[in-house]
Amino acid sequence: MTTTPGRVRPRRLRATPALRRMAAQTRVDVAQLSLPLFVRDDVTAPVPVASMPGVVQHSRDSLRREVARAAESGLGAVMLFGVPSVRDATGTGADDPDGVLNRAIEDVVAEVGDALVVQADLCLDEFTDHGHCGVLDAAGRVDNDATLERYVAMALAQAAAGAHVLGLSGMMDGQVAAVRDALDGAGRDDVAILAYAAKYASAFYGPFREAVASTLQGDRRAYQMDPANRREALLEVELDIAEGADLVMVKPAMSYLDVLADVAAVSSVPVAAYQVSGEYAMVEAAAAQGWIDRRRAVEESVLSIVRAGADQVLTYWALELAGWWAADRRA
Ligand code: PBG
Repeated sequence: MTTTPGRVRPRRLRATPALRRMAAQTRVDVAQLSLPLFVRDDVTAPVPVASMPGVVQHSRDSLRREVARAAESGLGAVMLFGVPSVRDATGTGADDPDGVLNRAIEDVVAEVGDALVVQADLCLDEFTDHGHCGVLDAAGRVDNDATLERYVAMALAQAAAGAHVLGLSGMMDGQVAAVRDALDGAGRDDVAILAYAAKYASAFYGPFREAVASTLQGDRRAYQMDPANRREALLEVELDIAEGADLVMVKPAMSYLDVLADVAAVSSVPVAAYQVSGEYAMVEAAAAQGWIDRRRAVEESVLSIVRAGADQVLTYWALELAGWWAADRRA
């Protein structure tokens, strides 16, 4: 059979790097990237996270330096996670002004001002001795409404420390409304809320649990979303926007690009996606074996997340990507 070429030949625009660059339908900008960072209160030098090669738990000083680098590189934001040395049933370290995360927020804002956006994780799991995202009732279940009171206290502490955006990642019902009301009531209507609207109960958070030294036994399926559910993500997003979310998030990213595309199609606020620890670890592990081209895989993965509709991507590769692109521009 002979082929008759049509008039429309999609390959025409693929012929040279210049044509491909001109015709690209998705571009990723450093301002879209947000770098998640871990900070510990009991170390003076960074501690590597074994399951996330290249990622560390920062000391207070190394965190400041890393955030300064992030600002110089033009990143859009950082997302801070605290790793406290002492934990208890209600996570009192979370709203203690001297707690590791609140101190870190203060440090970082003092370092960079508003040269980039300082986002903080607002969840109790790093601060509770049982590792759940909320406080427990007498039967050992996460108590939704009692947890909201803790989130409110945490939100006010993070706002007082200077956080620009609060990342509500606990997946309690009504958390956005509770925190928005409290912030507004305290005269902090300037502080924004990034709602982890569609956060799934995912195996891909595995390495993160090491990064924050999580003590969790069991799982979070009673509050995080069932990976089987696509339409439910739209319900979560609708509720969070109605409650006052300034941005909504889908998490994880790569196994949930269908959900991300759905959310991006209907959301009236910017959409973030979190390329989580397990996504990072998989690419790093395969690249370390020489099984995939590391840089190409990293760039393709982030590009795919933006192509699916994310306005902001949280990725542990944010600084490295910024470095690559800056070097490309110099070349
Ligand atoms: C909860 C939280 C988690 C992550 C971010 N915020 C863990 C969880 O829900 O179990 C995971 C991030 C990652 O895996 O990179 N505070």
